[in-house]
Amino acid sequence: MTKAEDSVRQATAQAHPNIALIKYWGKRDVALNLPVVGSLSITLDRLHSCTTVRFLPELAADRVWLNGHEDLASARRIGRFLDRLRERAGVRCGAWVESGNNFPTAAGLASSASGFAALALAGSAALGLTLDATELSLLARQGSGSAARSIFGGFVEWSHGERADGLDSVAHPIRPAQYWPLRVVVAVTSTASKAIGSSEGMQRTALTSPYQSAWVDTQEADLARARAAIEARDFEALAAVSEHSCLKMHALAMAAQPGLLYWNGATLDAMHAVRQLRAQGVPVFFTVDAGPQVKAICLPDAANAVAEAMRSLSGVLDVIECGLGEGACLIEAEAAGA
Ligand code: PMV
Repeated sequence: MTKAEDSVRQATAQAHPNIALIKYWGKRDVALNLPVVGSLSITLDRLHSCTTVRFLPELAADRVWLNGHEDLASARRIGRFLDRLRERAGVRCGAWVESGNNFPTAAGLASSASGFAALALAGSAALGLTLDATELSLLARQGSGSAARSIFGGFVEWSHGERADGLDSVAHPIRPAQYWPLRVVVAVTSTASKAIGSSEGMQRTALTSPYQSAWVDTQEADLARARAAIEARDFEALAAVSEHSCLKMHALAMAAQPGLLYWNGATLDAMHAVRQLRAQGVPVFFTVDAGPQVKAICLPDAANAVAEAMRSLSGVLDVIECGLGEGACLIEAEAAGA
């Protein structure tokens, strides 16, 4: 064992998924996951990824278990991510990684965001590295862009940054979860895994969509509107700018060649149902990511009516309800052999 490997430990961390209200779509650097636009999200409670990392000197290659099954494809991606930590800590041994979600992985709930946020925290703690939240956000971003935001709780903004090395592209909290306890009702309309992942979709969009420059040029104004709406707890204003950002992201992606169409019929039904509720005075708006699930965001008193309306749609397979939650946290860390 090298001196650095003497301090090797194991650690377990937990992180929640987040939902973007002002969307991230497009990378200015694919390898570092640097976005062309800033984005703004809410971190959820209740749903989480829990990840344990053990660095074992006798392990030649990384082994990764996701939801109880060994996952060879993820082992490569996770291995490359852990290499950054190994290099920093001066450690070469393999890692045994076990990660589980308490929600369906295929439910379009950003399990990569919560997964890489938990991995960044557990992996660094297991190597005895003490990283602050900003350093963790920077690190998590390199695993999956939106994971940068899951390091923090409540309302979170992720800056696109200007630097080529990405050191200024990190997330920061705007307001804590308690500031405005919104509810999120997820209408699951399909459990199939998505045909085109977000990285590939973003790349295709940037190369072929005629709306790419309009998307980039209008993002700052949307972020400013969203920040002001959150600050003033102005639900109507947040609803307007969030639906606008969601529809604009999808219009941008639909205009790629070939066009990206992440919705199914039930996605549209749920979006219409949300707008109908709002027309009746229910404070709710929708957002949709790179998949067919609809996230209906509402004020606490409206949550039951919104969940009920989503459940009544024939194409909705499941409804998951949550509130706003906290950032990533360490569950335990112990010295090797302890
Ligand atoms: O972080 P990724 O590569 O999974 O991309 C996330 C993209 C969206 O979910 C569609 C938008 C967002 O800001 O989370």
